[in-house]
Amino acid sequence: MKSMKWKIFATLVVGLGLAGCDSAQTAVQAGAGETTVERRQDPAQVARGKAVYENYCLECHGDAGRGQAGDWRVRDADGHFPPPPLDDSAHAWHHPTADLLAIIREGSPQGQGKMPAWQGRLSETEMQDVVAYIKSLWSDEVYALWSELEQQSLEP
Ligand code: HEC
Repeated sequence: MKSMKWKIFATLVVGLGLAGCDSAQTAVQAGAGETTVERRQDPAQVARGKAVYENYCLECHGDAGRGQAGDWRVRDADGHFPPPPLDDSAHAWHHPTADLLAIIREGSPQGQGKMPAWQGRLSETEMQDVVAYIKSLWSDEVYALWSELEQQSLEP
């Protein structure tokens, strides 16, 4: 299951001809004309998610998910990655909903990083709401690309 998702991710990256996240903007713009995706977002849910975000996530992931000053790809003195932006400037949008929820629930893999696990501290609904808010921070183009990835991840 896990490796399957990575394969999908790899396909998407190759498909777009992305060398890395730096070129993401260009690729996104190049693909923009071809994809139109209707956003299925409930404004009430997004508003609830924003409140959750501001209470629990903003201190690390920054205002409107813009991250912190400095490069989120450079490890800190302890060898951990800083909190990345969650808007469309980093790679949160490379994850299908189920993976975003798993990251939020479980935190950094094997407790090896500084993302806290929120299971037991946030309800499942609050986690879903905050994911809806994060998606609302993405441009239409990025949302469209994410949406393709989401579809592929849901195929059997
Ligand atoms: C104490 C700081 C801190 C707080 C508070 C925090 N995070 Fe994080 N988060 C991180 C770090 C650090 C990472 C990178 C994880 C790693 O390298 O293992 C991360 C990673 C993530 C990712 C993966 C992003 C990607 O591009 O793959 C998501 C999604 C995320 N956080 C969501 C949240 C949400 C939602 C909240 C609030 C409920 C939250 N975080 C609160 C520090 C934090």
